[in-house]
Amino acid sequence: MKRILTGDTPTGKLHLGHFVGTLENRAKLQNEYEIFILFADTHALTTLSSSPKLIADYTREVLLDNLSVGLDPKNVTFFAESAIPQIYEIAAIFSMYVSHNRALRNPTIKDEIISKGLGDQFSLGFINYPIYQAADILCVKGQLVPVGKDQEAHLEQTREIAREINKLTGFDIFPEPQALIGRVGKLVGTDGNPKMGKSLNNTIYLSDSKEEVEKKVMNMYTDPNRIHPTDPGKVEGNPVFIYLDNFSPGKDKDKIEEYKDKYRKGQVGDVEVKKFLVDVLNEFLGPIRERRETYKNKPDLLASILEEGNSKVRKISTETLEELKQKLGFAF
Ligand code: TRP
Repeated sequence: MKRILTGDTPTGKLHLGHFVGTLENRAKLQNEYEIFILFADTHALTTLSSSPKLIADYTREVLLDNLSVGLDPKNVTFFAESAIPQIYEIAAIFSMYVSHNRALRNPTIKDEIISKGLGDQFSLGFINYPIYQAADILCVKGQLVPVGKDQEAHLEQTREIAREINKLTGFDIFPEPQALIGRVGKLVGTDGNPKMGKSLNNTIYLSDSKEEVEKKVMNMYTDPNRIHPTDPGKVEGNPVFIYLDNFSPGKDKDKIEEYKDKYRKGQVGDVEVKKFLVDVLNEFLGPIRERRETYKNKPDLLASILEEGNSKVRKISTETLEELKQKLGFAF
Protein backbone atom coordinates (compact mmCIF):
# COMPACT_ATOMS: atom_id res chain seq x y z
CA MET A 1 0.00 0.00 0.00
CA LYS A 2 1.25 3.46 -0.86
CA ARG A 3 1.80 5.90 1.97
CA ILE A 4 0.17 9.23 2.62
CA LEU A 5 1.73 11.63 5.07
CA THR A 6 0.21 14.95 5.86
CA GLY A 7 -0.10 17.19 8.87
CA ASP A 8 -1.45 20.18 10.68
CA THR A 9 0.27 22.89 12.64
CA PRO A 10 -1.52 23.07 16.00
CA THR A 11 -1.71 26.83 16.32
CA GLY A 12 -5.53 26.85 16.37
CA LYS A 13 -8.52 24.73 15.55
CA LEU A 14 -9.25 23.59 12.01
CA HIS A 15 -11.80 25.37 9.85
CA LEU A 16 -13.74 25.03 6.60
CA GLY A 17 -10.64 26.02 4.59
CA HIS A 18 -8.79 23.01 5.99
CA PHE A 19 -11.76 20.82 5.16
CA VAL A 20 -11.78 21.57 1.43
CA GLY A 21 -7.99 21.93 1.30
CA THR A 22 -6.99 18.63 2.84
CA LEU A 23 -9.31 16.98 5.38
CA GLU A 24 -11.85 15.65 2.92
CA ASN A 25 -9.10 14.12 0.80
CA ARG A 26 -7.68 12.42 3.88
CA ALA A 27 -11.08 10.96 4.73
CA LYS A 28 -11.68 9.85 1.15
CA LEU A 29 -8.34 8.08 0.79
CA GLN A 30 -8.08 6.46 4.21
CA ASN A 31 -8.91 3.01 2.91
CA GLU A 32 -6.72 3.11 -0.18
CA TYR A 33 -3.48 4.27 1.42
CA GLU A 34 -1.54 3.68 4.59
CA ILE A 35 -2.08 7.08 6.14
CA PHE A 36 0.00 9.07 8.64
CA ILE A 37 -1.12 12.38 10.07
CA LEU A 38 1.29 14.44 12.06
CA PHE A 39 0.70 17.33 14.40
CA ALA A 40 3.60 19.68 13.84
CA ASP A 41 3.88 20.95 17.39
CA THR A 42 7.51 21.99 17.09
CA HIS A 43 6.61 23.86 13.90
CA ALA A 44 3.90 25.62 15.91
CA LEU A 45 6.61 27.43 17.86
CA THR A 46 7.14 29.59 14.78
CA THR A 47 3.81 31.25 15.69
CA LEU A 48 3.42 30.49 19.39
CA SER A 49 7.01 30.97 20.57
CA SER A 50 5.87 33.11 23.50
CA SER A 51 3.05 30.81 24.61
CA PRO A 52 4.25 27.24 23.96
CA LYS A 53 1.88 25.82 26.57
CA LEU A 54 -1.08 26.41 24.26
CA ILE A 55 0.32 24.01 21.69
CA ALA A 56 -0.57 20.79 23.55
CA ASP A 57 -4.20 21.92 23.90
CA TYR A 58 -4.41 22.81 20.24
CA THR A 59 -2.88 19.44 19.36
CA ARG A 60 -5.76 17.68 21.14
CA GLU A 61 -8.28 19.95 19.40
CA VAL A 62 -6.75 19.29 16.00
CA LEU A 63 -6.77 15.55 16.67
CA LEU A 64 -10.48 15.90 17.48
CA ASP A 65 -10.98 17.89 14.27
CA ASN A 66 -9.44 15.04 12.27
CA LEU A 67 -11.53 12.41 14.03
CA SER A 68 -14.67 14.51 13.62
CA VAL A 69 -14.41 14.52 9.83
CA GLY A 70 -14.51 10.73 9.89
CA LEU A 71 -10.89 9.68 9.99
CA ASP A 72 -10.85 6.34 11.74
CA PRO A 73 -7.99 5.70 14.17
CA LYS A 74 -8.04 2.10 12.98
CA ASN A 75 -6.92 3.29 9.55
CA VAL A 76 -4.82 6.30 10.46
CA THR A 77 -1.59 6.70 12.39
CA PHE A 78 -1.69 10.00 14.26
CA PHE A 79 1.53 11.29 15.81
CA ALA A 80 3.23 14.37 17.22
CA GLU A 81 6.35 15.82 15.61
CA SER A 82 7.90 16.52 19.02
CA ALA A 83 7.65 12.83 19.94
CA ILE A 84 9.89 11.73 17.07
CA PRO A 85 13.49 12.84 17.74
CA GLN A 86 14.58 11.10 14.52
CA ILE A 87 12.84 13.86 12.55
CA TYR A 88 15.25 16.45 13.92
CA GLU A 89 18.25 14.35 13.12
CA ILE A 90 17.04 13.76 9.57
CA ALA A 91 16.29 17.49 9.24
CA ALA A 92 19.79 18.39 10.46
CA ILE A 93 21.29 16.28 7.69
CA PHE A 94 18.86 17.70 5.10
CA SER A 95 19.71 21.26 6.12
CA MET A 96 23.29 20.73 4.95
CA TYR A 97 21.92 20.34 1.42
CA VAL A 98 19.75 23.45 1.29
CA SER A 99 21.42 26.76 0.60
CA HIS A 100 20.51 29.81 2.63
CA ASN A 101 19.28 31.51 -0.54
CA ARG A 102 17.12 28.57 -1.52
CA ALA A 103 15.49 28.59 1.90
CA LEU A 104 14.67 32.29 1.59
CA ARG A 105 13.42 31.89 -1.99
CA ASN A 106 10.59 29.55 -0.95
CA PRO A 107 7.50 31.49 -2.14
CA THR A 108 5.31 30.45 0.81
CA ILE A 109 8.01 31.59 3.24
CA LYS A 110 8.24 34.90 1.34
CA ASP A 111 4.44 35.34 1.49
CA GLU A 112 4.31 34.54 5.19
CA ILE A 113 7.04 37.05 5.96
CA ILE A 114 4.82 39.69 4.36
CA SER A 115 1.39 38.49 5.55
CA LYS A 116 2.55 38.05 9.14
CA GLY A 117 4.47 41.33 9.05
CA LEU A 118 7.70 39.65 10.18
CA GLY A 119 10.05 42.09 8.44
CA ASP A 120 13.51 40.79 9.25
CA GLN A 121 12.41 39.54 12.67
CA PHE A 122 11.93 35.89 11.82
CA SER A 123 13.67 33.01 13.55
CA LEU A 124 16.07 30.57 11.98
CA GLY A 125 13.45 27.92 12.73
CA PHE A 126 10.98 29.81 10.59
CA ILE A 127 13.03 29.68 7.40
CA ASN A 128 14.01 26.15 8.28
CA TYR A 129 10.52 24.83 8.78
CA PRO A 130 10.08 23.58 5.18
CA ILE A 131 13.20 21.48 5.82
CA TYR A 132 11.60 20.03 8.95
CA GLN A 133 8.51 19.44 6.86
CA ALA A 134 10.62 17.46 4.38
CA ALA A 135 11.84 15.36 7.31
CA ASP A 136 8.24 14.95 8.55
CA ILE A 137 7.27 13.51 5.20
CA LEU A 138 10.37 11.52 4.40
CA CYS A 139 10.86 9.93 7.83
CA VAL A 140 8.03 7.57 6.83
CA LYS A 141 8.82 7.83 3.10
CA GLY A 142 5.44 9.45 2.38
CA GLN A 143 4.49 9.36 -1.32
CA LEU A 144 1.33 11.44 -1.44
CA VAL A 145 0.70 14.58 0.61
CA PRO A 146 -2.84 16.01 0.69
CA VAL A 147 -2.45 19.73 1.45
CA GLY A 148 -3.82 23.16 0.65
CA LYS A 149 -2.38 25.15 -2.21
CA ASP A 150 -0.13 27.25 0.05
CA GLN A 151 1.90 24.11 0.80
CA GLU A 152 2.89 23.37 -2.80
CA ALA A 153 6.14 25.30 -2.46
CA HIS A 154 7.14 23.18 0.54
CA LEU A 155 6.49 20.00 -1.40
CA GLU A 156 8.73 21.27 -4.19
CA GLN A 157 11.47 21.78 -1.63
CA THR A 158 10.89 18.29 -0.20
CA ARG A 159 11.24 16.77 -3.67
CA GLU A 160 14.46 18.68 -4.28
CA ILE A 161 15.93 17.38 -1.03
CA ALA A 162 14.89 13.79 -1.77
CA ARG A 163 16.39 14.02 -5.25
CA GLU A 164 19.62 15.53 -3.99
CA ILE A 165 20.18 12.88 -1.31
CA ASN A 166 19.31 10.06 -3.68
CA LYS A 167 21.72 11.41 -6.27
CA LEU A 168 24.46 11.95 -3.72
CA THR A 169 24.27 8.46 -2.23
CA GLY A 170 23.41 6.68 -5.46
CA PHE A 171 20.47 4.93 -3.77
CA ASP A 172 16.72 5.46 -4.00
CA ILE A 173 16.37 6.12 -0.31
CA PHE A 174 13.51 8.55 -0.58
CA PRO A 175 10.45 8.86 -2.83
CA GLU A 176 9.73 12.25 -4.41
CA PRO A 177 6.39 12.94 -2.78
CA GLN A 178 3.53 14.47 -4.74
CA ALA A 179 1.16 17.11 -3.38
CA LEU A 180 -2.53 16.40 -3.63
CA ILE A 181 -4.22 19.81 -3.65
CA GLY A 182 -7.83 20.01 -2.43
CA ARG A 183 -10.81 20.78 -4.67
CA VAL A 184 -10.65 24.34 -3.34
CA GLY A 185 -7.00 25.36 -3.12
CA LYS A 186 -7.75 28.43 -1.08
CA LEU A 187 -11.11 29.18 0.55
CA VAL A 188 -12.29 32.78 0.88
CA GLY A 189 -12.74 34.08 4.45
CA THR A 190 -15.99 35.36 5.96
CA ASP A 191 -14.61 38.89 5.49
CA GLY A 192 -13.98 38.45 1.75
CA ASN A 193 -10.20 38.03 2.20
CA PRO A 194 -9.10 35.48 -0.45
CA LYS A 195 -7.79 33.21 2.32
CA MET A 196 -9.55 31.88 5.38
CA GLY A 197 -6.87 31.88 8.06
CA LYS A 198 -6.60 31.39 11.78
CA SER A 199 -4.70 34.61 12.24
CA LEU A 200 -7.14 36.62 10.08
CA ASN A 201 -10.19 36.22 12.29
CA ASN A 202 -12.34 35.26 9.29
CA THR A 203 -12.91 31.57 9.91
CA ILE A 204 -15.76 29.18 10.48
CA TYR A 205 -14.39 26.37 12.62
CA LEU A 206 -15.47 22.75 12.31
CA SER A 207 -16.11 22.92 16.06
CA ASP A 208 -18.27 26.07 15.96
CA SER A 209 -21.71 25.74 17.54
CA LYS A 210 -24.91 26.41 15.59
CA GLU A 211 -25.15 29.81 17.24
CA GLU A 212 -21.57 30.72 16.35
CA VAL A 213 -22.16 29.72 12.74
CA GLU A 214 -25.29 31.82 12.63
CA LYS A 215 -23.55 34.87 14.08
CA LYS A 216 -20.61 34.59 11.70
CA VAL A 217 -22.77 34.07 8.63
CA MET A 218 -25.14 36.92 9.42
CA ASN A 219 -22.09 39.22 9.69
CA MET A 220 -20.48 37.95 6.52
CA TYR A 221 -19.10 40.16 3.81
CA THR A 222 -21.14 39.95 0.60
CA ASP A 223 -21.28 42.41 -2.28
CA PRO A 224 -20.08 45.76 -0.91
CA ASN A 225 -21.79 47.73 -3.67
CA ARG A 226 -25.21 46.40 -2.88
CA ILE A 227 -27.12 48.63 -0.49
CA HIS A 228 -30.76 47.64 -0.99
CA PRO A 229 -32.13 44.16 -1.63
CA THR A 230 -33.51 45.55 -4.90
CA ASP A 231 -30.00 46.44 -6.18
CA PRO A 232 -28.61 43.88 -8.62
CA GLY A 233 -25.96 41.91 -6.71
CA LYS A 234 -22.73 40.15 -7.59
CA VAL A 235 -22.57 36.39 -7.14
CA GLU A 236 -19.03 35.75 -8.40
CA GLY A 237 -16.48 36.11 -5.61
CA ASN A 238 -19.26 36.58 -3.06
CA PRO A 239 -18.35 34.40 -0.04
CA VAL A 240 -21.99 33.56 0.70
CA PHE A 241 -22.39 31.90 -2.70
CA ILE A 242 -18.93 30.35 -2.63
CA TYR A 243 -19.82 28.60 0.65
CA LEU A 244 -23.22 27.57 -0.71
CA ASP A 245 -21.55 26.02 -3.74
CA ASN A 246 -18.98 24.19 -1.65
CA PHE A 247 -20.81 23.00 1.44
CA SER A 248 -24.30 22.16 0.30
CA PRO A 249 -25.22 18.61 -0.54
CA GLY A 250 -26.29 18.12 -4.15
CA LYS A 251 -29.98 18.28 -3.27
CA ASP A 252 -29.83 22.07 -2.82
CA LYS A 253 -28.37 22.75 -6.25
CA ASP A 254 -31.57 24.04 -7.87
CA LYS A 255 -32.39 26.25 -4.93
CA ILE A 256 -28.90 27.76 -5.01
CA GLU A 257 -29.18 28.48 -8.74
CA GLU A 258 -32.52 30.14 -8.09
CA TYR A 259 -31.05 32.32 -5.35
CA LYS A 260 -28.14 33.29 -7.59
CA ASP A 261 -30.52 34.32 -10.31
CA LYS A 262 -32.68 36.37 -7.95
CA TYR A 263 -29.62 37.94 -6.33
CA ARG A 264 -28.29 39.09 -9.67
CA LYS A 265 -31.66 40.64 -10.49
CA GLY A 266 -32.12 42.31 -7.11
CA GLN A 267 -35.04 40.12 -6.14
CA VAL A 268 -33.76 38.71 -2.85
CA GLY A 269 -32.12 40.27 0.20
CA ASP A 270 -28.79 39.31 1.76
CA VAL A 271 -30.54 38.27 4.97
CA GLU A 272 -32.65 35.60 3.29
CA VAL A 273 -29.69 34.08 1.44
CA LYS A 274 -27.59 34.18 4.58
CA LYS A 275 -30.28 32.38 6.58
CA PHE A 276 -30.29 29.68 3.94
CA LEU A 277 -26.50 29.43 4.23
CA VAL A 278 -26.79 29.07 8.03
CA ASP A 279 -29.04 26.04 7.49
CA VAL A 280 -26.76 24.57 4.83
CA LEU A 281 -23.64 24.94 6.98
CA ASN A 282 -25.31 23.56 10.08
CA GLU A 283 -26.49 20.57 8.11
CA PHE A 284 -22.97 20.07 6.77
CA LEU A 285 -21.47 20.39 10.25
CA GLY A 286 -24.08 18.15 11.93
CA PRO A 287 -22.35 14.78 11.53
CA ILE A 288 -18.97 16.42 12.21
CA ARG A 289 -20.29 17.76 15.54
CA GLU A 290 -21.75 14.36 16.42
CA ARG A 291 -18.48 12.53 15.86
CA ARG A 292 -16.62 15.16 17.86
CA GLU A 293 -18.99 14.55 20.79
CA THR A 294 -18.25 10.84 20.78
CA TYR A 295 -14.50 11.46 21.20
CA LYS A 296 -14.48 14.71 23.13
CA ASN A 297 -14.85 13.37 26.64
CA LYS A 298 -12.42 10.51 26.24
CA PRO A 299 -9.01 11.98 27.07
CA ASP A 300 -7.53 8.53 27.69
CA LEU A 301 -8.57 7.31 24.27
CA LEU A 302 -7.13 10.44 22.61
CA ALA A 303 -3.86 10.02 24.51
CA SER A 304 -3.58 6.36 23.55
CA ILE A 305 -4.25 7.12 19.86
CA LEU A 306 -1.26 9.46 19.92
CA GLU A 307 0.93 7.15 21.99
CA GLU A 308 0.41 4.25 19.63
CA GLY A 309 1.06 6.45 16.61
CA ASN A 310 4.18 7.94 18.14
CA SER A 311 5.70 4.59 18.90
CA LYS A 312 4.91 3.20 15.44
CA VAL A 313 6.47 6.23 13.73
CA ARG A 314 9.53 6.18 16.02
CA LYS A 315 10.18 2.65 14.82
CA ILE A 316 9.78 3.49 11.12
CA SER A 317 11.77 6.71 11.30
CA THR A 318 14.60 5.01 13.21
CA GLU A 319 14.94 2.62 10.28
CA THR A 320 14.88 5.53 7.83
CA LEU A 321 17.51 7.43 9.78
CA GLU A 322 19.75 4.38 10.09
CA GLU A 323 19.46 3.75 6.36
CA LEU A 324 20.31 7.38 5.60
CA LYS A 325 23.34 7.42 7.86
CA GLN A 326 24.58 4.12 6.52
CA LYS A 327 24.23 5.21 2.88
CA LEU A 328 26.00 8.47 3.68
CA GLY A 329 28.83 6.35 5.04
CA PHE A 330 28.61 7.36 8.70
CA ALA A 331 30.43 4.66 10.58
CA PHE A 332 30.04 5.52 14.28
N1 TRP B 1 3.04 23.30 7.22
C1 TRP B 1 1.78 22.61 7.22
C2 TRP B 1 0.66 23.63 7.45
O1 TRP B 1 0.88 24.64 8.11
C3 TRP B 1 1.70 21.55 8.29
C4 TRP B 1 2.69 20.46 8.11
C5 TRP B 1 3.77 20.20 8.88
C6 TRP B 1 2.67 19.45 7.09
N2 TRP B 1 4.45 19.14 8.44
C7 TRP B 1 3.79 18.63 7.34
C8 TRP B 1 1.83 19.19 6.02
C9 TRP B 1 4.09 17.57 6.49
C10 TRP B 1 2.13 18.11 5.19
C11 TRP B 1 3.25 17.31 5.41
O2 TRP B 1 -0.45 23.41 7.04
